[in-house]
Amino acid sequence: MHHDSGTGLILGIESSCDETAAAVVRAGSTALSNVVASQISLHANYGGVVPELASREHLRNIVPVVREAMAQAGVDFQDLDAVAVTEGPGLAGALLVGITYAKALAFGLAKPLIGVNHLEGHIHAVLMEARQRSELAMELPLLALVVSGGHTHLYLARQSGEGAWNYRNVGRTVDDAAGEAYDKVAKLLGLGYPGGPWIDALAVRGNSRAVTFNFAQIKPRPHREGVSMPNKKAPASWDGPSFDFSFSGIKTAVLRYIETQNLRESVEARRKGIAALGAAKPSVESVAGLCDVQTLDLIASFQYAVVGNLLRQTFAAAESLGARGVVVSGGVAANSELRRRFQAEADRRGLPIAFPSLALSTDNAAMIAAAAWPKFLARDFASEELAATPQLRLGQT
Ligand code: KG4
Ligand code: ZN
Repeated sequence: MHHDSGTGLILGIESSCDETAAAVVRAGSTALSNVVASQISLHANYGGVVPELASREHLRNIVPVVREAMAQAGVDFQDLDAVAVTEGPGLAGALLVGITYAKALAFGLAKPLIGVNHLEGHIHAVLMEARQRSELAMELPLLALVVSGGHTHLYLARQSGEGAWNYRNVGRTVDDAAGEAYDKVAKLLGLGYPGGPWIDALAVRGNSRAVTFNFAQIKPRPHREGVSMPNKKAPASWDGPSFDFSFSGIKTAVLRYIETQNLRESVEARRKGIAALGAAKPSVESVAGLCDVQTLDLIASFQYAVVGNLLRQTFAAAESLGARGVVVSGGVAANSELRRRFQAEADRRGLPIAFPSLALSTDNAAMIAAAAWPKFLARDFASEELAATPQLRLGQT
């Protein structure tokens, strides 16, 4: 690989949802800094992300976060080869803050600007860390599961001879994202926001076989009807099988269970109990103390069902599409049961599998700078018209 540039340093900026993040990454493989200003405590009061508050908070954070990322990396703006920024998908106003700032910065420095798809970023978080550990590159194609609060997508990922990555979207959720189901179920149970980490921590204390959730198994679609949006960002549609997900049914099933088992009072008592703890982030021990056995069993059973569903669809897709390795990324990839069961299944099948470190599972900017590197080498730069694209898709759908 050769590049006619100086440093290989790319500044990445991410502001698509509720974290303002900046990072400096060298040649797509070494993160010199990775700064994330989380707004979780701000949005926790509302039980979810409030878009207007998010934009305002990004505006407040973007300058200090970028400065901190540059300072921690010990790098001057002039040392950068390019500025990379998330162009979508995400919240329009939130994306706009990062894009506007990145554009102005790149213009002022006379450096190229690179637009990165947030979902591609999540995939590259894993690839970057594998490179950082100097592991052998996994053989292609890879099957990538991107599973977060906003997304549950399966991609078949390949690299062309020139190094550019391309993706086929071979599965998606037809309703809620998996992380969204975690967050909604946690809310139904009176637990804090975001719900994923709470359910993860409490599930080990319950019996995962206590409640059976019958997952509406979505059969692989042999091929998709020809719905294609007139969108220059969406290339020709993929006509292979699809491995889709649905997570709204299980949320309804949990709600029904709470009602039929008369758990409402216990939920209310827990909500009040947690509020009375008064801590921004109470200890798992104290929250577990507010959960009865039946609730812990419900939590364990919910997680067992969700992880099982993610696992079945992911490995069915990997097998059917001839993937040589599996990559799991996004906020839900932080889940301990998911990691354990995916690792065991991959081992059983003799398939290499990789996860990001916990810090790079959730939203960050190192993944944006890493995903920008092959684009930099390919001179795939954004124009001055780069716009926030809230519904941006990745690859062929
Ligand atoms: O990738 P991310 O930071 O933001 C989005 O792009 O959505 O993912 C956040 C999501 C939330 O829904 C959160 O509940 C979930 O990831 N999450 C988890 C865990 N940690 C975060 N879900 C399950 N288990 C976890 N340990
Ligand atoms: Zn994300």
